[in-house]
Amino acid sequence: MIVLGIETSCDDTGVALYCTERGLLAQALHSQVAMHARYGGVVPELASRDHVRRLLPLTEAVLDEAGLALGAVDAIAYTRGPGLAGALLVGAAVGASIAWALRKPAIGVHHLEGHLLSPLLARDPPAFPFVALLVSGGHTQLMRVDGVGRYQMLGETLDDAAGEAFDKSAKLLGMGYPGGPAIATLARAGRAGAITLPRPMLHSGNLDFSFSGLKTAVLTRVRAGLDGEQARADLAWAVQAAIVDVLVAKSVSALEQAGLSRLVVAGGVSANLRLRELLSAARAKLEFSVHFPEAALCTDNGAMIAFAGALRLAAGAEPAPPTEFSVKPRWPLDALAAPGQASRPAS
Ligand code: KG4
Ligand code: ZN
Repeated sequence: MIVLGIETSCDDTGVALYCTERGLLAQALHSQVAMHARYGGVVPELASRDHVRRLLPLTEAVLDEAGLALGAVDAIAYTRGPGLAGALLVGAAVGASIAWALRKPAIGVHHLEGHLLSPLLARDPPAFPFVALLVSGGHTQLMRVDGVGRYQMLGETLDDAAGEAFDKSAKLLGMGYPGGPAIATLARAGRAGAITLPRPMLHSGNLDFSFSGLKTAVLTRVRAGLDGEQARADLAWAVQAAIVDVLVAKSVSALEQAGLSRLVVAGGVSANLRLRELLSAARAKLEFSVHFPEAALCTDNGAMIAFAGALRLAAGAEPAPPTEFSVKPRWPLDALAAPGQASRPAS
């Protein structure tokens, strides 16, 4: 089965072709970062309009790359939510229309399920069950994953997401969006321990997170005056260390509490090298395995949507009705059900 995946939940237009027998056939991505840069964040209306412009050319590009005609596509998977309503509607409308024209099934995919399952695209994928740390610009969640659609929330952020903490700190340091890569780059010149910042909820005894206090601590530092480039780099180092330390400690606790020995990390922040290093160091000491998506699949992309859609359809999920589509800008991940079962209320 060949699935065309379409991702338009935020500021990346992602399209990919995934084949259940041969794996990922092609993928293409257009990032709107440059377009939104001057506004300091994503402008929803501009995002929607740009998805309209990019989607069909990108679809043609992946078909060309895979050497396939559109008719070779067996199903279409599009991101149904969560995300920006207008942006989601573009992908859903185009995906449903292509499916209708081809008389093929379409399926609306949960964006976070796409992230969550993306490490399974690796050559050596982890088996279920595992603990997943989902760290993106909008979400910070620890989940127990027993199979596709079998997700149990273990803990989540009470305020800002980890990616948001990177983004807001970067803004306070005068850097643009997305802030995660900017902080990580600046932190390379930073000195360990030159500045210390709080590690919010590190000892809270549960698996929840809170990052808004960190932003306040960074603001206080910046207001007190940062003398020169070294001081900025030291603060970037401290921001990254604080966020990563909390993510690592809570992930290890989640593995212990769930009695599991496999950790999957996904979402934009899973690209962070320090997070990868510290989790790998902890893995060696505590004997668990850790699995990341490959670098190109950490942030938003069409491949993870094609893959999640393919897994669901292969497991017997109902496709969307042929002439209907709808989006879910707010959609908790643990409200999802396993393929073939009715969805359940979120915990
Ligand atoms: O998953 P994603 O592409 O979009 C959402 O669904 O939110 O995640 C974007 C987030 C942004 O907050 C960005 O700053 C962060 O991921 N990010 C990083 C890195 N690359 C992206 N954070 C830390 N280190 C990175 N290398
Ligand atoms: Zn995402």
